[in-house]
Amino acid sequence: MEKLKIAGGYPLKGTVRISGAKNSAVALIPATILADSPVTIEGLPDISDVQILKALLEEIGGKVEFANNEMTVDPSSMISMPLPNGKVKKLRASYYLMGAMLGRFKKAVIGLPGGCYLGPRPIDQHIKGFEALGAKVTNEQGAIYLRADELKGARIYLDVVSVGATINIMLAAVRAKGRTIIENAAKEPEIIDVATLLTNMGAKIKGAGTDVIRIDGVDHLHGCRHTIIPDRIEAGTYLILGAAVGNGILIDNVIPNHLESLIAKLREMGVEIESGDDQVFVAPAQKLKAVDIKTLVYPGFPTDLQQPFTSLLTKAEGTSVVTDTIYSARFKHIDELRRMNANIKVEGRSAIVNGPVRLQGAKVKASDLRAGAALVIAGLMAEGITEITGIEHIDRGYSHLVEKLNGLGATVWREDLSQEEKEQMENA
Ligand code: EPU
Repeated sequence: MEKLKIAGGYPLKGTVRISGAKNSAVALIPATILADSPVTIEGLPDISDVQILKALLEEIGGKVEFANNEMTVDPSSMISMPLPNGKVKKLRASYYLMGAMLGRFKKAVIGLPGGCYLGPRPIDQHIKGFEALGAKVTNEQGAIYLRADELKGARIYLDVVSVGATINIMLAAVRAKGRTIIENAAKEPEIIDVATLLTNMGAKIKGAGTDVIRIDGVDHLHGCRHTIIPDRIEAGTYLILGAAVGNGILIDNVIPNHLESLIAKLREMGVEIESGDDQVFVAPAQKLKAVDIKTLVYPGFPTDLQQPFTSLLTKAEGTSVVTDTIYSARFKHIDELRRMNANIKVEGRSAIVNGPVRLQGAKVKASDLRAGAALVIAGLMAEGITEITGIEHIDRGYSHLVEKLNGLGATVWREDLSQEEKEQMENA
């Protein structure tokens, strides 16, 4: 086990290249199960979630090659092996194995997913969709059992706009008989990316990226080659970092449209940003104004950037209010930021940030992926050394973080945990 150390307080400058989108990758990889010949996905990020999914596909008999960010999955010899425990518990997105295995084998057993604790994260809408398609779904000792004699297209209205449920129902429906209509679907770019891969595999999908998706089931899906979209949350994290400690940072390999809500908020704070076709430049920011943000489904302000944005707000003049309408408990980073001298209090679903303050380096713990990103930004802003434990959360979603930061002139390194720290982590 390792920790991350950051010598903060210095301006960063240069170009950072964004990796493939984690939240696409974790759906694209299970989607390959639905094909009957090899599928190649280009541009995958080097993150632990991708490695875990690779191992899970191998566990069910897939032949997987992964090198230079390109993964080729030969799904032809896969079987519907039950996966009630083990690696499935390590990431939340293992729930996509339910839709993909149900779609291909008409049966699956998948342990209830793990992942970051951000408040209650039910999967009732996924299950509602599977049942509407004709599956019998039961929960037995922490694993979901799915079985269908036949999957038949259905009209499914999502009571909650859910990225996971939208993608999972698409995965189960592409090989069902007849037409499926998903109403009140989520519109995130990752959904379009998954629909593009499935379409390249021979699926018939219309409307991905709008709130009504129509799928006409086909009997077979074939192999293809697909290039993943860039990670808008990783790009957003570097944009925020650019506003917080940048002396001119160019973010390369990004789709600026995917970041409109963040760019608008940064401009409102007084940050100068120039967008190109696939690049965004953040000019050195002078005085920052406080702003309020409220997280919403896409294209609103993403909940995944709320935590990193809060670190930036500690530098802004005045009071900012951050409200998370998606997750009720995504505020675990706040206590850690307070250790670093931030003046923030949490009231219900909102964090109230008073600034500006000068953050101070401290020993802090990342409780989840984006909390980790928030602490990295805070560490770069702070005077002195910051030590972050719990970095396995950060490794789930940020490809080559240390290399990318040091490439911008930061001083960031990994160190092994001391015996005492290891014991503390194990007892936590
Ligand atoms: N919800 C339900 N029932 C369901 C599904 C969701 O009530 O059946 C609720 C959730 O509790 C939440 C809201 O609906 O309040 C939205 O959840 P959604 O299903 O959209 O989230 P998700 O698919 O589980 C994905 C990302 C998250 C990101 C959210 C919201 C992946 C693997 N994860 O989660 O990413 O926060 O969408 O945009 O795509 C992250 O990257 O750090 C991360 C947590």
